[in-house]
Amino acid sequence: MTQTAKPVEDLTLSEAAEELAALAAEIAGHDRRYYAEDAPSVSDADYDALRLRNAALEAAFPELVRADSPSQSVGTAPSGAFAQVRHARPMLSLDNVFSDGDVRDFVASVRRFLNLSADDPLVFTAEPKIDGLSMSLRYERGALVTAATRGDGETGENVTANIRTIGEIPQRLPADAPEVVEVRGEVYMRRDDFLALNARMTEETGRTFANPRNFAAGSLRQKDPEVTRSRPLKFFAYAWGEASAPLAATQFDAVRRLGDWGFPVNPHMARCAGIEDMLERYRAIEAERASLPYDIDGVVYKVDRLDLQDRLGFRSRSPRWATAHKFPAEKATTILRAIEIQVGRTGALTPVARLEPVTVGGVVVTNATLHNEDYIRGIGNDGQPIREGRDIRVGDTVTVQRAGDVIPQVLDVVLDQRPAGSVPYVFPDTCPACGSHAVREEGEAVRRCTGGLICPAQAVERIRHFVSRNAFDIEGLGEKQIEFFFSNEKASQRIASPADIFTLKKRQEALPQTLDGSLERLEKVDGFGETSVRKLYAAIEERRRVPLHRFLFALGIRHIGETTAKRFARHYLSLAALRAGAGTAVPPQGKGDPGNAQWQELVAINGIGAVVARALVDFLAEAHNIEALDRLLEEVTPLDEEPVGEVSSPVVGKTVVFTGALERMSRDEAKAMAERLGAKVSGSVSKKTDLVVAGPGAGSKLKQAGELGIEVIDEDGWFVLVGQG
Ligand code: IVH
Repeated sequence: MTQTAKPVEDLTLSEAAEELAALAAEIAGHDRRYYAEDAPSVSDADYDALRLRNAALEAAFPELVRADSPSQSVGTAPSGAFAQVRHARPMLSLDNVFSDGDVRDFVASVRRFLNLSADDPLVFTAEPKIDGLSMSLRYERGALVTAATRGDGETGENVTANIRTIGEIPQRLPADAPEVVEVRGEVYMRRDDFLALNARMTEETGRTFANPRNFAAGSLRQKDPEVTRSRPLKFFAYAWGEASAPLAATQFDAVRRLGDWGFPVNPHMARCAGIEDMLERYRAIEAERASLPYDIDGVVYKVDRLDLQDRLGFRSRSPRWATAHKFPAEKATTILRAIEIQVGRTGALTPVARLEPVTVGGVVVTNATLHNEDYIRGIGNDGQPIREGRDIRVGDTVTVQRAGDVIPQVLDVVLDQRPAGSVPYVFPDTCPACGSHAVREEGEAVRRCTGGLICPAQAVERIRHFVSRNAFDIEGLGEKQIEFFFSNEKASQRIASPADIFTLKKRQEALPQTLDGSLERLEKVDGFGETSVRKLYAAIEERRRVPLHRFLFALGIRHIGETTAKRFARHYLSLAALRAGAGTAVPPQGKGDPGNAQWQELVAINGIGAVVARALVDFLAEAHNIEALDRLLEEVTPLDEEPVGEVSSPVVGKTVVFTGALERMSRDEAKAMAERLGAKVSGSVSKKTDLVVAGPGAGSKLKQAGELGIEVIDEDGWFVLVGQG
């Protein structure tokens, strides 16, 4: 072992850097022997000691955290080890519901969207939600060609060689399968296999996985398929992506067909005729949960008829036709050691509980959210007491809850264990990062730092957001690296704003060939090194061109999340058009003022309301934002968005207004359908309107259309027009 006996406090900076470099290499070697060669060469205690030492050093010298540090990877094959695969259809996730009432709301929303009355039949399937990893298996002409993980939903990792080692997954499909079909489902490990193998592994190597899911994930991300082969992985098929021919008319039959082709399908799937049936299935599956040989974390309901699934379609990340009814969250009690305040990129002060580590449902939890200052005081969002008004104090014994992937939260306090002399927590009214006032606006639950541009925490968070996975997605710029660049005084190393990321290399290359100059080179900075610097530059260069929606999302404008960014991007198609439109929009100045035409265009975009529209307009009206934007545009190019929709649709690019009562579909469905076909849906009639679809009872909009000479059709006419008459 390279570990020195010296206490961490006594190390100099360069000693620490040297030791961290040695630890990184040593641990990487052990990981390689363990994961890729499956031939570990250290005892559990030694391996853990190395990692602990590494963690202690990093805690004491955060500026020295290396890009290749073992703390920066999860211990399986490094990311980038597998080729990327773009899914032909995105792999979506599911919305979660937690109560019977939520299930009722879900069913009601489906009925509303489809314009069904309460007694129209509507069948759902109910099946266990398997706690594993989702996988997409692409078959062409009957042969398995690619297996990909979910990744970010659009692009996953190619793990075909490893998947081929799973005996349960057919390599070939029978002749009746469509020419192209992507079969989707869950890779998992049985609990008994996990327990046996994990025990053996712990004994032999000291390595332990927290749960079957992690073990399955680790087993799949192996560079050597033979290691995967030695792990008892299993599969359940429950969905599909691209398919060159329909599988069936219903979900139930489609899954049965997957079963006929040789895929394992879950025997607990059932059809349910209504809400009571669904809830009954839920309870039955919950009752069986403990005796099932694999972990499940809820029940998934899906609309059975596939034609209805098509009509319902998708929101940005999840289908409207399915939801996951999760089992109640797992809880544990522990001690609240401290409350820390984090400052987000919009200045929001969020209290975070630092906890005595505790295992909640198989995962060690050390941090949990406390939501906001009222929550700590025992006041809910509606101003009413929660927890019967009990406040939460440092030193308290608290209950912590963790549900699935959701951030753990502090639920309650155990009052009779409250230490004597404890005092109520006082929420700061200044920003812990910059000292500016932190104010809570009327009616807001959140206190915000008013420091804006001068607040370092906000600036760092903005950069973190900018490089995050769904924004610019720049690898190698983690929290530690950003802190290093941001707090840096040297002009050749500082990154104070997103544009600086893209000038870093140039500034570095301009350093003089003197001793001073060469010492400022990143490669010479402790914790970097040649390879990581080269990789970082490459990752940055790769992102000089990004899709417009990512660019917009990355700007971190308040209220503009991924979905909203996509909506703006798909509407304006280019940044220039967006600036010409939203940048000149004038919102209503008072009652009765509708705002100018650009404003009206903005709020007519589907899903864009006044609050979001105003956030964009305000952003573009701020001189320093424009300055930052223009500086960024000197370095990067947002790519124009492709117009969406089926090119063959007769309404591509048309602006459509629906008015009056619709009988065959709800207003939401009409909108979603038109948009799917490439049309823009507007709420008001203007010269720009191409088509008005008017139902019974249409009034002023119909009249306006007449005056402007715009084509008007009825609902049946619409279905004929789009070829579904
Ligand atoms: S259906 C378009 N069915 O849960 C919807 N998903 O939280 C496709 N999952 O990413 C998913 N069991 O990995 C579906 N019976 C089941 C499932 C299931 C587990 C996973 C899946 C998905 C995640 C969403």
